[in-house]
Amino acid sequence: MSDAAAIRRSLDPYLAAGTGMAHAMPGPFYTDPAFLEVEKEAIFRREWVCLGHAGEIANPGDYFTTELVGEPLLVVRGRDGAVRVLSNVCRHRGNIVAQGKGNARLFSCAYHAWGYKDDGALVAAPLMDKVAGFDKADCGLIPFRTELWQNFVFVNLDGKASPLAPRLEGLLPHIEPFQHQDRISVFTADDVWATNWKCLVENFMEGYHLSATHLRTLHPITPTALCRKLPGTVDYTAYESHYSPETPERTPYHPNLPAEYRRHSTLFCVFPSFVVSYASHFTLYMCIRPKGVGEVAIHWGVAGYVDSAEAPEVAPYVALCNAFNAEDKEKLETLIQGLRSAAYVPGPLGPDDVEGTIADFYRFMADRLAR
Ligand code: FES
Ligand SMILES: [Fe+2]
Repeated sequence: MSDAAAIRRSLDPYLAAGTGMAHAMPGPFYTDPAFLEVEKEAIFRREWVCLGHAGEIANPGDYFTTELVGEPLLVVRGRDGAVRVLSNVCRHRGNIVAQGKGNARLFSCAYHAWGYKDDGALVAAPLMDKVAGFDKADCGLIPFRTELWQNFVFVNLDGKASPLAPRLEGLLPHIEPFQHQDRISVFTADDVWATNWKCLVENFMEGYHLSATHLRTLHPITPTALCRKLPGTVDYTAYESHYSPETPERTPYHPNLPAEYRRHSTLFCVFPSFVVSYASHFTLYMCIRPKGVGEVAIHWGVAGYVDSAEAPEVAPYVALCNAFNAEDKEKLETLIQGLRSAAYVPGPLGPDDVEGTIADFYRFMADRLAR
């Protein structure tokens, strides 16, 4: 029996919801390289994984490149306005086509100058007209299945996942009042932290650490004691972090934001690895991808109900995000060291309001890996 299979079995208690005291998972869940390979195949190739906010590529020809479990990806808005996720691998001899991010009319592979339109169609292939039987129509960039939800761009690598939106309908009553659809992308950044991807997902989604880890940054706004769990499923989990009475109104907010939504944020995770906070004023999101068993790639950003990224409220909010991210990074990079200990015995999770979201995440993992 491989270690990965034993780790999988330790998720079994989570297949049935609400069965007594929940415990944390054993260290190898986060540190075993063979288990990461299982996760790549059974989760990251099969599920909907968020790559960013559609507002990051607001104009025709806007694009960015990324990767997911080793697949080079090109995320691009076409002249037709559609957002596509294309394989960023040339259909000639397989080189990488586009680099970085920007705006382009044509994506030209630098190796032999094959050129692709923003919908992936091959339009230039030097000398290939001399090759009998060659047809450009057969050699476009491979499209991956793509879905936009709440203006976020999701990809499903194996093309077989059931549609995402119907699975997330239960979230809508809790998040639609924030009017996220009218918030524009104002900031993005990319980071790599030395921790397992699941440590970051769990950390973003639990309110237990807010007061202890973020004593001077978040505790004065969203203390642990005011966290309230929302119902989760095997597709998502969520909680509300209510603002302390001393916290001034967090502006600018949408004119249609109901009064009760001016006093809390709703944090949710679309499993496996898209974590979001809708606050009264800004959206903070993190697209999380495993880079190695002890390394996580993070594409994160902020969206707001403002006219431009230069609005005066943006910089202070991004500064707050940078401050609490630095505090989380420090904790998660020591956490993975503790999880590598052979002496670690998993402890009980805290009350539902502050760590019930972690039990929901384990239940998602159990559900997918049991298939
Ligand atoms: S590999 Fe891209 S043009 Fe040859
Ligand atoms: Fe945190």
